[in-house]
Amino acid sequence: MQLNFNLDWLTAKSLPIIGLDISTTAIKLVELSDAGKGMLRVERYVIEPLPKDAVTDGNIANLDQVADTLRTAWKALGTRIKYVALALPSSAVITKKILAPASLKGIDLENQVEAEANQVIPFSMDEVNLDFQVLGPSPSSPDDVQILLAAARKEKVEDRVAVVEAAGLKAFIMDVESYAAQTAYEQIADQLPNSGAGQTVAIIDVGAQNMHINILNNNESVYLREHGFGGNQLNNEISRRFGMSSEEAESAKRKGTLPESYGTEVLQPYTETLAMEIARALQLFTTSTQYQTVDHILLAGGGVMIPGIDDVVAKRTGTPTLVINPFANMAVGTHIRPQALTADAPSLFVACGLAMRRFDS
Ligand SMILES: Nc1ncnc2c1ncn2[C@@H]1O[C@H](COP(=O)(O)OP(=O)(O)OP(=O)(O)O)[C@@H](O)[C@H]1O
Ligand SMILES: [Mg+2]
Repeated sequence: MQLNFNLDWLTAKSLPIIGLDISTTAIKLVELSDAGKGMLRVERYVIEPLPKDAVTDGNIANLDQVADTLRTAWKALGTRIKYVALALPSSAVITKKILAPASLKGIDLENQVEAEANQVIPFSMDEVNLDFQVLGPSPSSPDDVQILLAAARKEKVEDRVAVVEAAGLKAFIMDVESYAAQTAYEQIADQLPNSGAGQTVAIIDVGAQNMHINILNNNESVYLREHGFGGNQLNNEISRRFGMSSEEAESAKRKGTLPESYGTEVLQPYTETLAMEIARALQLFTTSTQYQTVDHILLAGGGVMIPGIDDVVAKRTGTPTLVINPFANMAVGTHIRPQALTADAPSLFVACGLAMRRFDS
């Protein structure tokens, strides 16, 4: 799946780009390179914390703060690459599958898609950026092709491009977060039986405010949801229990400087609650769709950076669970400390998928 929402689309192959994830808590940058023999290498990455409320629920609330943080992050990355691939939150994008005659090409196809979009997208065409991708022949009518149409509110695209430009960089690809996550998933799917073929796989990215749920069947996305639960809940609990601000809680949690009772009195109950929220989300999926079971759970995001979380979730849901490292099959460059990368990897899931866009053909 590739979208670009009317950004400059040069077709030059492997133009150097870096992946940029503008998330709730941080700006995340990842640079990958081609290590040869079909392997990628992680060259550099940065996680630069954002001021509180600069980004909320996928909206850029404070453009200047986000641009400043991006500028700092890019300097810290130490790269020369100024082109970035970034993404819109899945909730800001409407997608529809439509049909078009297989004989249409180029501008004729674009016109046809736009006319169709007018019918199926519930916004005025002046208010949205449109993009589409031909998926292949239609299974039901042999003379048509199936097209995935995507529409995003213009201001959502423009805000993100403005941040990138204010930081002195260039927005080159505008993807969707769930697609970027899927790109990252595809190159580690070999960790699953049959590489995920014929299976139902739930990718659950636990961020600060929200759990981003993307369920795949036979490696195609069939269910996308956001669920209001994330790592902030843990910080709130720490604040309450130990009388700290949420900033102090965050820092103490990461440094491991909390009192001994933290493990049993705060972390353990949080882990149980998280597992229960995941079980509930999956139950909602199986009761509201044709799918009866989930075969695998893959966990990502900073909210799952808890030792033993995979076992707790597996036990609670009765489903095999893995915390994913999107870099598992990649080489690691000399600028990176492998231990730090392993620790940060789950929260770089989306940024990694975006960085992989460099290698689209
Ligand atoms: N090393 C860590 N140990 C424990 N918790 C962590 C760690 N790193 C991040 N977190 C927690 O993970 C959460 C942030 O995760 P993540 O970076 O995936 O979120 P995000 O991408 O900013 O959010 P979203 O995707 O919803 O925009 C925060 O609540 C933070 O406290
Ligand atoms: Mg995230």
